[in-house]
Amino acid sequence: MRKKLITLIAATLLLVPTAMRADEGMWIPMLLGRNQAAMQKAGMHITAQDIYDVNNASLKDAVLLFGSGCTGEFVSQEGLLLTNHHCGYSYIVRHSTVEHDYLTNGFWAMNRSEEIPCPGLTVTRLVRMEDVTRQVLEGVTDQTSEQDRETIVEKNIQAVCAKAVEGTHYKAIVKPFYYGNQYFMYVNEVFTDVRLVGAPPSNIGKFGGDTDNWMWPRHTGDFSMFRVYVGKDNKPAAYSKDNVPYRPLKHLEISLKGVDEGDFTFVFGYPGTTRRYVTHDYVDMAANQTNPVRIALRTIRLDHYNAAMRRSAGQRLKYASRVASIANGWKKWQGETLGIERLHGVEQKIAQEEQFRKWAADKPEYRDVLDQMEDNYAKMREVELEWTYFSEAVLASDFMRRTIELRGIASRGDDGRVEKMLNDSRKYFEDFEEHSPVDKAIFIECFTYMWERGFAPYMNLKHTTASEVEATLEKIYDKSALNNPKKLEKLLGMKREKMIHAIAKDPAVELFAQAYDYCYSDKKRQQYNTADDNIQRLMRTYIRGMMEQYPDSNFFPDANLTLRVAYGHVEGFRPKDATYYTAYSTIDGIMEKENPDVYDYRVEPRLKELWQKKDYGHYANKKGELPVAFIATNHTTGGNSGSPVLNADGQLVGINFDRCWEGTMSDLLFDPAYCRNISLDIRYCLFIIDKYAGARHLVDEMTLIDN
Ligand code: ARG
Ligand code: ASP
Repeated sequence: MRKKLITLIAATLLLVPTAMRADEGMWIPMLLGRNQAAMQKAGMHITAQDIYDVNNASLKDAVLLFGSGCTGEFVSQEGLLLTNHHCGYSYIVRHSTVEHDYLTNGFWAMNRSEEIPCPGLTVTRLVRMEDVTRQVLEGVTDQTSEQDRETIVEKNIQAVCAKAVEGTHYKAIVKPFYYGNQYFMYVNEVFTDVRLVGAPPSNIGKFGGDTDNWMWPRHTGDFSMFRVYVGKDNKPAAYSKDNVPYRPLKHLEISLKGVDEGDFTFVFGYPGTTRRYVTHDYVDMAANQTNPVRIALRTIRLDHYNAAMRRSAGQRLKYASRVASIANGWKKWQGETLGIERLHGVEQKIAQEEQFRKWAADKPEYRDVLDQMEDNYAKMREVELEWTYFSEAVLASDFMRRTIELRGIASRGDDGRVEKMLNDSRKYFEDFEEHSPVDKAIFIECFTYMWERGFAPYMNLKHTTASEVEATLEKIYDKSALNNPKKLEKLLGMKREKMIHAIAKDPAVELFAQAYDYCYSDKKRQQYNTADDNIQRLMRTYIRGMMEQYPDSNFFPDANLTLRVAYGHVEGFRPKDATYYTAYSTIDGIMEKENPDVYDYRVEPRLKELWQKKDYGHYANKKGELPVAFIATNHTTGGNSGSPVLNADGQLVGINFDRCWEGTMSDLLFDPAYCRNISLDIRYCLFIIDKYAGARHLVDEMTLIDN
């Protein structure tokens, strides 16, 4: 049966194992010349050099790594930057209190002095990139052991980077491509004074919340604005009130024309991680082993946090950020598993591997690579679940996470740790009465879940019932000093020897230590890491082999949080039988979704008023509608959030913020029929700034093209 299915799949288009399908790929800006013809054929009017050029200002000078995992873009001569609401989220939360709740109500700086510094936030501009493969691999031969290779590579990288930035304020990093077959160096300029300028209220910036997250049709005004400040010499400087707005080499022009079905678009940004070339074992492990466990355990956490968030505004603010991030993965993995199943992803990979095996049969360099890969995945899979349980169950509660701090005090000495723990705990106990039942329930349910599946033998509870396990866990929770301010203070006030002893005896620390030893013992860690190292090394050979096997294919390198260009077309899709999704949404859809009883679907009265009056200014489309979001076939992933979406002329038409649920397997398998990125229409963004918030001065800074 399985064999038949494979043959069936192999007989279809899926056989072309590594040939890139239309629209798939995240390309290297420096090498974009290779894609230029295809991009122009697809509709682009500009050149690869307009996008990336080291000698002249080019679009790349306007595109930034925002923080450490999002993208942003300059839209004015004065360092004004756009990114997503969910990228600015933690900074908006950080400056919010119940009295000044910017998260709920939005925030708009009406002049420069009101812009809020965000310590710790950086934005990074790529100055130039360079292929440094030769320098990095100098001294490495076919005979070099893997360990020696690592040492040599590391040393070479340091030397290359040091030389590249000598005498400048730039920073350089080198990243491996194709599992270390190639290396590129990135010389960057890092800005450290970044200030919050504007954010819409949550019921615009996060409209639809986690209910609509990863879904189309979408109506989220997912944007926020920041400004980069520098010293008087226009160079990065630490925060100072004397700093001035940065004057970028390039800022993006904004097109008010919008996009239509079929139009060419490209996304320019920092995609984080894809695994396009992994073998069937990885796909199977993700879809059938890791994802289901992660999803089940996160459901437990989300149920408790969501219930708490419904209880009070304070609780809502407290849990908002963590729920957003827990729910994000939780939902994506569900879509990913479904997508893998729909595409017969595992069988598809097996079919590709069969082709490779046939091709490699007479090539000693490649002949055994897939067998070895399977052996290593078998080793990895033996311990992988315990790792998943450790991160998703053991570390699910604050209670267990706080034991880490306590253990640190015992094992690593004081060094300010006691004081820090006392301070942190004082804060922790402030809303303990509300928080504790939530955290306790999460702790108990996650451990019980593990126990029920045989993953907590260390609890010595093999022959008891679930309710006895729960009672024991409850006792641990109640008896630990971590949940008792007085006990904790007493514990941390003890003389060192005595304290170390008492910490080790705390029931929470005991439980954590057992869980750690079980899930994460040296032996298991070693087994996992060795398998992983081997797989990385084998992938290096495997992908080199595939490139030889298909010399005419243009292999895009997996995303690795370096600047990339993806291109495609605005296009609707058919998510299921008898259903077609058109390519854009409008403000009318917000009013259709409106439901005052559902938090995610509450509509701001002022927005409704503008809608009723159809007061859209010049932000409406030709039909008089106010567009909110659109979908296209650009290949994107996490990290692309906030990326500029540009039209054929390289003008800004949208801000990327998500993908459609049916296509979230695109990190592993791309399917042009289902994979769509979701972008905020720039006209809705401007409408909100200008018409809704009355922050016209910000729009006036931008360069709008209206023809
Ligand atoms: N799914 C989008 C991305 O992966 C948006 C996430 C933030 N929104 C949310 N409702 N949690 O980043
Ligand atoms: N929402 C994602 C991000 O934050 C984008 C994606 O995964 O498509 O980068």
